[in-house]
Amino acid sequence: MLQPRRSRVPETTIPAYSLRLTVNGEAHDLALDPRATLLDTLRDRLRLTGAKKGCTHGSCGACTVLLDGQRVVSCLVLAAACDGREVTTIEGLATGGRLHPVQQAFLDQDAFQCGYCTPGQIMSAVGLIAEGRARDDAAIHDDLSGNLCRCGAYPNIVAAVRQAAGVAPPESEVRGDSRVRAAAGATGGAIRGGA
Ligand code: FES
Ligand code: FES
Repeated sequence: MLQPRRSRVPETTIPAYSLRLTVNGEAHDLALDPRATLLDTLRDRLRLTGAKKGCTHGSCGACTVLLDGQRVVSCLVLAAACDGREVTTIEGLATGGRLHPVQQAFLDQDAFQCGYCTPGQIMSAVGLIAEGRARDDAAIHDDLSGNLCRCGAYPNIVAAVRQAAGVAPPESEVRGDSRVRAAAGATGGAIRGGA
């Protein structure tokens, strides 16, 4: 009986890639598999587990961090591409024992349920506010469309971003129009960009 042929391709090891990563103000010299993602490096090498692993395909936003101040989904970024760059994660937001205003606003507005999406939502919110894009509810909805929340906490997330950005609530909310509030709750999918 014929035996399956053994592969003659020798096993190869990929040389480690050396890089310096500054995370939350602290420099780290690392030797990594050049295929390692920024997300895995943060979670598995640096033990910073705030950035969450959701889809690993850039679709959920749970892994959002700031790279040189810009929002990125860290599951799609190679750590090797971050050599010499600055990363900020949810662990680096609070200063001097005080929560970042966006973190405080999420607490004040009850903007999470299970909390799995929350670090990514907060990092996206920090980025969009810094970019001056939190103009009104529609702009906030639009800009957070890459951050999914399975719990559907969207109306409170928008309220938290509004609070942190110092944007006034819409007139209907000030009047306490319950029909509009219900509609706002039902349109949480708008933040997800559909579905
Ligand atoms: S885990 Fe990165 S976008 Fe979903
Ligand atoms: S609070 Fe549970 S996924 Fe957003």
